[in-house]
Amino acid sequence: MSDPLVIFTPSGKRGRFPVGTPVLTAARQLGVDLDSVCGGRGICSKCQVQPGFGEFAKHGVTVARDALSDWNAVEERYRAKRGMIDGRRLGCQAQILSDVVIDVPPESQVHKQVIRKSAAEREIAMDPATRTLLVEVAEPDMHEPSGDFERLQTALREQWGVERVEADLSILRRLQPALRKGGWKVTVALHRGNHDAAPRILDLWPGFFEGAIHGLAIDLGSTTIAAHLCDLRDGRVLASSGLMNPQIRFGEDLMSRVSYAMMNPGGDVEMTRAVREAIDRLAQEIAAEAGVDPASIYELVFVCNPVMHHLLLGIDPVELGQAPFALATGSSLSLGARDLELSAVNPAAQVYVLPCIAGHVGADCAAVALAEEPQTSKDMVLIVDVGTNAEILLGNEARVLACSSPTGPAFEGAQISSGQRAAPGAIERVEIDPATREPRFRVIGCELWSDDPGFAEAAGPITGICGSGIIEAVAEMRMAGLLDARGLIGSAEQTGSPRCEPDGRTHSYLLHDASAAGGPRILVTQGDIRAIQLAKSALYAGAQLLMDEIGIEKVDRVVLAGAFGAHISPRHAMVLGMIPDVPLEKVVSAGNAAGTGARIALASVAARDAIEALVHRIHKVETAIEPRFQEHFVAANAIPHATAPFPCLRA
Ligand code: FES
Repeated sequence: MSDPLVIFTPSGKRGRFPVGTPVLTAARQLGVDLDSVCGGRGICSKCQVQPGFGEFAKHGVTVARDALSDWNAVEERYRAKRGMIDGRRLGCQAQILSDVVIDVPPESQVHKQVIRKSAAEREIAMDPATRTLLVEVAEPDMHEPSGDFERLQTALREQWGVERVEADLSILRRLQPALRKGGWKVTVALHRGNHDAAPRILDLWPGFFEGAIHGLAIDLGSTTIAAHLCDLRDGRVLASSGLMNPQIRFGEDLMSRVSYAMMNPGGDVEMTRAVREAIDRLAQEIAAEAGVDPASIYELVFVCNPVMHHLLLGIDPVELGQAPFALATGSSLSLGARDLELSAVNPAAQVYVLPCIAGHVGADCAAVALAEEPQTSKDMVLIVDVGTNAEILLGNEARVLACSSPTGPAFEGAQISSGQRAAPGAIERVEIDPATREPRFRVIGCELWSDDPGFAEAAGPITGICGSGIIEAVAEMRMAGLLDARGLIGSAEQTGSPRCEPDGRTHSYLLHDASAAGGPRILVTQGDIRAIQLAKSALYAGAQLLMDEIGIEKVDRVVLAGAFGAHISPRHAMVLGMIPDVPLEKVVSAGNAAGTGARIALASVAARDAIEALVHRIHKVETAIEPRFQEHFVAANAIPHATAPFPCLRA
């Protein structure tokens, strides 16, 4: 008679196994998604399954109620202590007696984390570098003398297939009491080791540890540092938080920070100290927000641009400020948090820094690629991460190219006469009536438009205009005929709008006047238009350069990444000529795609391998030495462009 047939649902995986095979063993052999933290000792309950009985027409089998073994003592003990849903069994204890259909409920499947990306959701199988494992260690034996750590190594090899485990002295000091207190069972937090490094025990607890271990995914930007605190067991985001990068006091943008390092001996060390202290502060704040102990943070993943990358690592960024823009290293890095002098997290915490693509295209761009996967796209996709330096990816499943473009800080509201960071009180949306040329606007923190009743009370003081506001203002001015294609603001006579005021030899457009109440006059000046023109020309020229390289005249879709990209109106971006012509419905925002990429790398070692492989394949284009960049830049100065048609704008 043949062995019993075992069918798992919902996967439909099936196979024949000898009578007496534990369900967990069968699941593992078939590659069925069934969780286990205790390694089959009947402690963790992660392996619960629901056996079926009756006719299973779909599978052509009839299953008896007693297709699995009776409850054993371990299951009875577990049920008495913790309770179990009726009919459920522990997969590690129940044995197969005859043909059986076994359902693996969602909570028993190895956790998958659904991560939102721009246009879709992506499911990530949880495969973090650090996980907790329960291990049963043999007791010492006078006849076979060996150390407790050596027997723990043997147990890890036999029970979890983990070889060559290492531990530092602090773990060895705690091992003997933990083993004896736990009745020769311990839970270890094991980091699997990156690349060729040996797996390492980061922490241990007597017996079965039911608590959570956590990780931080950090997007270290030149302006803000944003972090997600995640549960490393299931990838859930427990809290998200951010703070200003304190390096701003050394320079607003990246190049001014490089200059600070060049001109001030020890300036790089000062900036490194400042950013590390901020990361410690952020770790404490985010842990407090989630109600967890910062010492439960065992993993940190960083994504950052090359200058931030070097300053985080304590490497002088001076070489990044001059051709040929050589990185000290572009490879991914695996370090200890101690190496970065981070003290708020667990002292044994491990750090993974994503690889950089090139001297101006950083690990943040690699993280965007990890989140958006241009290499799997059938369409030709242009991905733009807008910041003080725009990082641009273009490609599809055949080829992916990358470059960076020096847009400067204008898109973030800097270098704009009334510019400010995106904060309450900043104008963020603008409309100008093409007939009357009168503006209406919205400010951050208020849902009302400026011509809605109650706006003044609801909006509070209006303090300036942020990046998305100035983009909309300039695009609206162009559409309302206040601005010509060269970017010149007309006079009151030329435009018919008294808001176009003389301003030296040029003109400015008055967007909002609160001077009667002691507030500011918010103007869009000719200098503001120039700053936006320079920034948008650089962005367009970078994209055009990549399109030339691939040999295409149009892209199929555009993804706007970055916190700022999330707030740009695609229509206004195209009116300005920031991005190439494409149907508006094909322009999507990916939000903080770099942060999403960091989360993916935190959740999955396989994703780390994937991005490392992709970064090797990405073709880098250096805008600084490419003569066509200048040509494209000049042509893109006009609004929207001197020569390129924008048929989709008319559609
Ligand atoms: Fe832990 Fe079954 S695997 S209880």
